[in-house]
Amino acid sequence: MTWLWWIFIVSIITLILYISNIYYWSGTRCPSFDRMDGKTVIITGSNSGVGKYTAIELAKRGAHIILACRDRKRTEEALKEICKLSGSNNVEIEIVDLASLKSIEECAKRLCGRLSKLDVLINNAGVMMASEKSVDGYEIHFAVNHLGHFLLTNLLLDLMKKAPSARIINVSSVNHAFLNITINWDDINFTKPYWKINAYSHSKLANILFTNELARRLQDTNITANSLHPGVVRTEVIRNILGHYQIILNTILLLITPLWCCFTKSPEQGAQTSIYLASDRRLNHVTGKYFKECKEYSSSKTSLDQQAAKRLWKLSEEMTHLDDALKYVRNN
Ligand SMILES: NC(=O)c1ccc[n+]([C@@H]2O[C@H](COP(=O)([O-])OP(=O)(O)OC[C@H]3O[C@@H](n4cnc5c(N)ncnc54)[C@H](OP(=O)(O)O)[C@@H]3O)[C@@H](O)[C@H]2O)c1
Ligand SMILES: *[C@@H]1O[C@H](CO)[C@@H](O)[C@H](O)[C@H]1NC(C)=O
Ligand SMILES: *[C@@H]1O[C@H](CO)[C@@H](O)[C@H](O)[C@H]1NC(C)=O
Ligand SMILES: *[C@@H]1O[C@H](CO)[C@@H](O)[C@H](O)[C@H]1NC(C)=O
Repeated sequence: MTWLWWIFIVSIITLILYISNIYYWSGTRCPSFDRMDGKTVIITGSNSGVGKYTAIELAKRGAHIILACRDRKRTEEALKEICKLSGSNNVEIEIVDLASLKSIEECAKRLCGRLSKLDVLINNAGVMMASEKSVDGYEIHFAVNHLGHFLLTNLLLDLMKKAPSARIINVSSVNHAFLNITINWDDINFTKPYWKINAYSHSKLANILFTNELARRLQDTNITANSLHPGVVRTEVIRNILGHYQIILNTILLLITPLWCCFTKSPEQGAQTSIYLASDRRLNHVTGKYFKECKEYSSSKTSLDQQAAKRLWKLSEEMTHLDDALKYVRNN
């Protein structure tokens, strides 16, 4: 009789996991269905994961979507899928490598030359646990997740000011508070030995500090800036975690697929807070806030430090040569 007991116990556990997934782990869905007709939306890193599903849903709602990604071939494949799943053809590609300041300037110049306005910018692209340096010699997480978006955002502000109202959305992470991390002022290039997870968290803290400083700077405009945590999502973001030993992690994940799926979100579920921040009409005047599960939360104390935010802004201006970049883009 014991095997019957085993079947019974396993069934009960499966049922509990399944229900907990539906009611908890899969997260909240965007509560509104506001349309986006006539709005232009740029989403970085939208050829995969959270960004791709954000693009699909916003295209469904009528937005003109620009996929700002680095790899043409992968992005063309994603474009086909996005058009098919959304039923919209109003989707296009703009190539940008956020690890290269030059590439960002050129992309911004092309966009400013051909768009008449920009309504929503979603800074979604991100690297996690990578080990190379950026094209400009900076630590890769800080370069892509923070500096690249800092530069892109600042170069696109002129376009956003031409829209009746505009939104900047930064995909950050709960990791911004990992081990109470602070900005690595004394070694911003990470020349001393470091943990990659620290460098990732550091860049995500920078995202929030920046969103907040940006929101303060945009007070007198109709542009808002908010940041968010998407949840724990099954995407390719973990593709580098173990470096040479990545195969081990992939194998383990494959073996525990049902459990892994239970405690994480699908990319479509992970996109909900981005969709909410991009589209919900009630958020027209909400700025400088941090969201998860389509709700406002307070981010860590460190990420609210205004002094640090100002200092990081100045440092980022220098590291991205912002003044020269602005001249280059405006001089059409
Ligand atoms: N997944 C999670 O559990 C989780 C949790 C918290 C926060 N987040 C954040 O959510 C965001 C989206 O991540 P995801 O989970 O959807 O991961 P993903 O599937 O790996 O997507 C990341 C995207 O960023 C792009 N990207 C990376 N480096 C780039 C560069 N130098 N220039 C331009 N694009 C670049 C990637 O392009 P390629 O395909 O060309 O590499 C890809 O499209 C990230 O900011 C991540 O930090 C994710
Ligand atoms: C960081 O690295 C870049 C590129 O190598 C260099 O130009 C810059 O001076 C470095 N910054 C600091 C503070 O060491
Ligand atoms: C985190 O750091 C801040 C300042 O660096 C400090 O005030 C705070 O007490 C620390 N919190 C924890 C939990 O260590
Ligand atoms: C912001 O929008 C309001 C109405 O929506 C408009 O009256 C105002 O001029 C706008 N402000 C700026 C700085 O564009």
